[in-house]
Amino acid sequence: MPALVVLGAQWGDEGKGKATDQLGTSADYVVKFNGGNNAGHTVVVGGEKFPLHLLPSGILSEGCTPVIGNGVVVDLPVLFQEIEELESRGRSAAGLKISANAHVITPYTRTLDTLSERTLGERKIGTTGRGIGPTYADKISRIGIRIQDLFDESILHQKVASALEQKNRLLISYGEEPFDADDVTAELLSYAERVRPMMCDVTLEINNALDEGKIVLFEGGQATMLDIDHGTYPYVTSSNPTAGGACTGTGVGPTRIDRVIGVAKAYITRVGEGPFPTELFGDEGEWLREAGHEYGVTTGRPRRCGWYDAPIARYASRVNGLTDLVITKLDVLGDLEKIPVCVAYEIEGKRVEEVPASQTDFHHAKPIYEYREGWQSDISQCRTWEELPEAARAYIEYLEEISNCRISVIGVGPEREQSIVRHPLV
Ligand code: GDP
Ligand code: IMO
Ligand code: MG
Repeated sequence: MPALVVLGAQWGDEGKGKATDQLGTSADYVVKFNGGNNAGHTVVVGGEKFPLHLLPSGILSEGCTPVIGNGVVVDLPVLFQEIEELESRGRSAAGLKISANAHVITPYTRTLDTLSERTLGERKIGTTGRGIGPTYADKISRIGIRIQDLFDESILHQKVASALEQKNRLLISYGEEPFDADDVTAELLSYAERVRPMMCDVTLEINNALDEGKIVLFEGGQATMLDIDHGTYPYVTSSNPTAGGACTGTGVGPTRIDRVIGVAKAYITRVGEGPFPTELFGDEGEWLREAGHEYGVTTGRPRRCGWYDAPIARYASRVNGLTDLVITKLDVLGDLEKIPVCVAYEIEGKRVEEVPASQTDFHHAKPIYEYREGWQSDISQCRTWEELPEAARAYIEYLEEISNCRISVIGVGPEREQSIVRHPLV
């Protein structure tokens, strides 16, 4: 009864969408467990590009039921827009299930995200501006709105009004327009009938599916280094994209998880603010950004680019208990004569092997590089391990050794088929 978690091992955009889509062809369920439409996944099937944000990446696989777990925050207009776009391209979102306990992004949490960034000034996080942080903050403060609240107008109105009691004072004090509880309630209610058939007891559904021997994929948004607890706080998102989040975000116990698959690029990128030891500036950074087409799917922002960071890979392996690594975008490094790999950091004159516990130290970490031979050829048509040039295999074996995790799949292009499987994941 395989329950597999797929998650980001770096700072996001590792190619989780592609990995999930690929595994989705063998899965019965794909369950999103955290985040919301801050995520942006580009999935390419048969030459067609599908940008996904809120919908689970398994949505493109026939016979795979897509599920949004309780750990996700749902922006209802975005959800239905994404469904309509998919349907206009001949794909179906029928069968989509949403946890009754998932929280809803509201017009005021969206505004508060922008306001918070503005008031932070230079210390801003560089959020996606989708209302993610304030919606999770309301969840933790116990003033959030859940999917199940959409079906009782008077309860919904009470909840919105009491949340707005606090929010409007804040908004007015910053010169923003306050929200009207009647309007917000009416807007949320306008989605209720479309949501009703999707609402589901996800914990029951998924545990039953596992009992029946079904294959369930838990899909993480964001990544380990953006985790609210284990990432580069405060430059993080507001959920748990790490492996434990798959359990709390769906209601499945840790003893049921069989495999935890981390996805990492053969280099590394980051969007938004925060420390980034191997970040490249100038021509080198520009070259990598162009070679890898490193522009965000959600906000279109250029991604910050850098070399593979092995202490981060080891950290991700440890924090998530990774059983497998998927290394994506190996094809992007095809032109390089030498490939730098960060093996440790120098912090205040001392060599440090692991991601430091202190955030200040991490801000001061300078990469110590080792250089590997490049293969200087196009590997995008390779489909087996043997077909890869020797130097590319040596690079992967080296990453495996220094990342503390076996590398099971290698990506050599954005298409579903552009992958090399060394160890089957399902
Ligand atoms: P996610 O958020 O982790 O799903 O990743 P994104 O979709 O935001 O970014 C990954 C990008 O790399 C997408 O445009 C993918 O189509 C693309 N991609 C994924 N795997 C590979 C690969 O192995 N090689 C290349 N060249 N592109 C890839
Ligand atoms: P996927 O799933 C990369 C980053 C934002 C910002 C920080 C907080 O595509 O890998 P938020 O809006 O979540 O409050 O922003 O997190 N961020 C991502 N970076 N990929 C993502 O998702 C991200 N989701 C959020 O840029 O730095
Ligand atoms: Mg992405």
